[in-house]
Amino acid sequence: MGKFFVMEKNELTKWHRAYIQNAYHELEQGITRKQLGTLNIKTTDRKVLDVGCGPGNLLVALSADTPQLLVGVDVDTTFLTLGRSKIEKLITPPSKVPTLICASLPTLPFADETFDLVTCFLVMPHVPDDKVALTELARVLKPGGTLAISGHGLGFPLRYLKRFRLKPLRMYLASLIYRCTGKKWIRNTLQNEKQICNILSGIGLTIDVRNYNKKVLGCVATYWIRATKSETIPNATQ
Ligand SMILES: C[S@@+](CC[C@H](N)C(=O)[O-])C[C@H]1O[C@@H](n2cnc3c(N)ncnc32)[C@H](O)[C@@H]1O
Repeated sequence: MGKFFVMEKNELTKWHRAYIQNAYHELEQGITRKQLGTLNIKTTDRKVLDVGCGPGNLLVALSADTPQLLVGVDVDTTFLTLGRSKIEKLITPPSKVPTLICASLPTLPFADETFDLVTCFLVMPHVPDDKVALTELARVLKPGGTLAISGHGLGFPLRYLKRFRLKPLRMYLASLIYRCTGKKWIRNTLQNEKQICNILSGIGLTIDVRNYNKKVLGCVATYWIRATKSETIPNATQ
């Protein structure tokens, strides 16, 4: 796997601070719960895994409906450390307190068919290979289980146009290279949600819900997909 995409340093950056502030603000405003609601995500008595959990904002929302098991996984130990302290403050029994684990998609430390629900929000732009990552998410999902993912589409970098001129350009260039060669060049490479849906169908998942945010110059900025794993899954190498 490309090391380029893995944050191994345990240091608190300006980006971490800004991300945590924004993520927890969205949580307080009820935006995170609303996103789960539009995907019709149910957690009660289910085994739930959040991959790329960052500072745990989604885990806090997922914990409210008392899942049977709640696990968060991320490669970034700074996020995990800060997430743990936020979670300790915000989640009290009977809400389910999540277990946090440092691990990297596409190598999740769980047996096949462990979880009823796997969420993976805003992580796909960072993984080197979409199909390999989605196949791993499907592997740990029970047959009939739910996968909920979100990611960034072509409209996403337009919001950076004013602030950092080079950033959107790099993102578009990286997306173009990815489409032509299948290789991701930088973090935050943009995807086409149709391609993500095609991959999901190809590995045995049925798309149930597909939402997008089309607010930025008519382009999809962020997409959310919910899919169900079939009872029999085709061989990923086919
Ligand atoms: C944009 S943040 C999203 C955080 C959270 N899921 C949310 O919706 O707010 C992306 C997260 O994915 C994590 N990440 C990136 N690549 C990863 C990988 N290969 N495996 C696990 N986590 C990864 C990053 O460390 C970061 O916490």
